[in-house]
Amino acid sequence: MKQRRFGAGGPLVSALGLGCMGMSEFYGPSDDQASLLTLAKALELGVNLFDTADTYGHGHNERLLGRFIAEGGAARRARMVVATKFGIVRAPGSGERRIDNSPAYIRAACDASLARLGVERIDVYYCHRRDPVVPIETVVGTMAELVKAGKVGSLGLSEVSPETLRRAAAVHPIAAVQSEYSLWSREPESGMLATCGELGTAFVAYSPLGRAFLTATLASGQLAEGDFRKGNPRFSGDAEASNRALVAELSTFAAARGLTNAQVALAWLLARSPQVIPIPGTRRIAYLEQNAAATDVDLSAGEVAWLDRLFTPESITGERYPEAGMLGIERE
Ligand SMILES: NC(=O)c1ccc[n+]([C@@H]2O[C@H](COP(=O)([O-])OP(=O)(O)OC[C@H]3O[C@@H](n4cnc5c(N)ncnc54)[C@H](OP(=O)(O)O)[C@@H]3O)[C@@H](O)[C@H]2O)c1
Repeated sequence: MKQRRFGAGGPLVSALGLGCMGMSEFYGPSDDQASLLTLAKALELGVNLFDTADTYGHGHNERLLGRFIAEGGAARRARMVVATKFGIVRAPGSGERRIDNSPAYIRAACDASLARLGVERIDVYYCHRRDPVVPIETVVGTMAELVKAGKVGSLGLSEVSPETLRRAAAVHPIAAVQSEYSLWSREPESGMLATCGELGTAFVAYSPLGRAFLTATLASGQLAEGDFRKGNPRFSGDAEASNRALVAELSTFAAARGLTNAQVALAWLLARSPQVIPIPGTRRIAYLEQNAAATDVDLSAGEVAWLDRLFTPESITGERYPEAGMLGIERE
């Protein structure tokens, strides 16, 4: 597996990470045993960046990763770069959320994540969403204390604006920004990628497969009850049909290259800049292997440009989140 630098002066990590969120919720039922096998396969393939958050499955996701780490002992732990996040607060069993960036909350959330993961140090700790009431300087100052205390390795921010990143980086180095980025979600191109380049911050691309939509493996209208995508504007009605037509063109392109849509979507991201590190999520070994192979795919400049033109922001129908899901997301 090829590697990329996790922020200027940071450690080398696999060019693709593994998003663990779907192993706990959002995309239908999951199976812990299958997830544990997928996690083990990731390490075997050289994937060493594992992405979770305290809110995924209300702690289930961190506990699952903790179990995986515990089962492999110190040797396994040493091979892994574990990234988690704080800031989204939900009552157990509820989808409703509020954002908390207060120093007391950050300290308590960190201790709770350390306990669930069963580790002495979180390698990458992200602020998941911004609460504008708390200045970013206060948030990062508190996070920096956790670094000093040895509880956290490096710092990250999710879904922030370039302005917030600059202010944060003036307080403490920010190793990574994590935001949605894929063929059909191009917001980071309006300033964040350039700012990351300037500051030496890695850009971690979440939902790089458009939550599976870009892979053309989701049958229309077949999402299970409770699947988060059912309420996503891009997955329903006319928007879905219109977006599906673009994905059909992607499928034709991928087939002609002997690749899967997922591989093209990931290779396109990897070609954007050496700072981009996609974290596709999967619960299945077959998908994981397919995605890992994308790190060896080279797209020509002409192919990248063709894909850029196919998925312009104007050609996509529907927002990337329902309105409630935009809470704490800073628009550029
Ligand atoms: N910072 C944030 O606010 C934020 C928000 C969302 C997500 N994230 C992180 O980003 C990670 C990835 O994002 P995501 O899971 O939302 O979306 P994604 O990676 O774009 O898509 C995941 C979906 O694609 C399917 N899939 C994966 N590889 C495939 C392949 N080769 N062919 C066909 N289908 C494939 C998965 O299926 P199976 O699961 O059935 O295998 C799953 O349904 C998450 O796990 C999480 O760690 C962060």
